[in-house]
Amino acid sequence: MKLFRSKPKAGAVNFTNLPRHIAIIMDGNGRWAQRNGLPRTAGHAAGAETFRRVATYCKDIGIEYLTVYAFSTENWKRPAPEVQFIMRLLEKYLWEAIEKMEKDRVRMKFFGDVSILSEELQRLIEKTAEISQRYEGCQVNICVNYGGRDEIIRAARLCAEEVLKDGGGKIGMEEFEKHLYSSGIPDPDLIIRPGGEQRLSNFLLYQSAYSELYFTDTLWPDFTERDINKAIAEFQRRNRRYGDIK
Ligand code: IPE
Ligand code: IPE
Ligand code: MG
Repeated sequence: MKLFRSKPKAGAVNFTNLPRHIAIIMDGNGRWAQRNGLPRTAGHAAGAETFRRVATYCKDIGIEYLTVYAFSTENWKRPAPEVQFIMRLLEKYLWEAIEKMEKDRVRMKFFGDVSILSEELQRLIEKTAEISQRYEGCQVNICVNYGGRDEIIRAARLCAEEVLKDGGGKIGMEEFEKHLYSSGIPDPDLIIRPGGEQRLSNFLLYQSAYSELYFTDTLWPDFTERDINKAIAEFQRRNRRYGDIK
């Protein structure tokens, strides 16, 4: 277990060609706990701490959008006490976020169907999103009860409802994208997955079409600012062609 994590030296990140939007699949909490002889819940608590640090760091270096996968539509399959613990952590995080919002000036949004979460959590989510609207700093999107397929089907349904209501009209990419949770936000330039798995696990399936993917074995609770710098450096070495021959 790393108790002290040093801040990266100034100049460790190259500010030219920074990704505008970074997305992270925060994976490996359970294995981190297991390796340290702790219950899985301790891994989630440590992961929440990592999220605080990484979000602050991304804001400090000028990342415009940070989207994090906190709880998927499939994570309900887990034992109830673990799910409950994660929801409580989220509540705790939101309480704190509201308290220090004026100082942080981070705009927060939530992707996913939050209507099935507890009333308290829904209230906190609504409040956090509402108060933070006025801030122009980094925008942090937290994905809770989020699934890429769910999001696509929801957008298709909303499009279909519009067509039925208005009796026609065009449904192109632009009209469709308006109904995604990420409406108005550029697609992620870089998707980072710590924890050793090399898959998307239903994360941003539509938006990841041309994202650069970065996988690392580091478990999320061990992830530091240095790992963000490494991922950004790798991103800056990639050649994004978008189908062209540049
Ligand atoms: C990610 O860590 C957190 C959530 C999915 C909520 P995991 O809990 O999946 O950690 P591992 O993959 O079991 O190590
Ligand atoms: C993806 O991690 C979801 C989150 C990090 C919230 P999982 O641990 O749920 O993914 P799988 O089961 O290994 O694909
Ligand atoms: Mg996992």
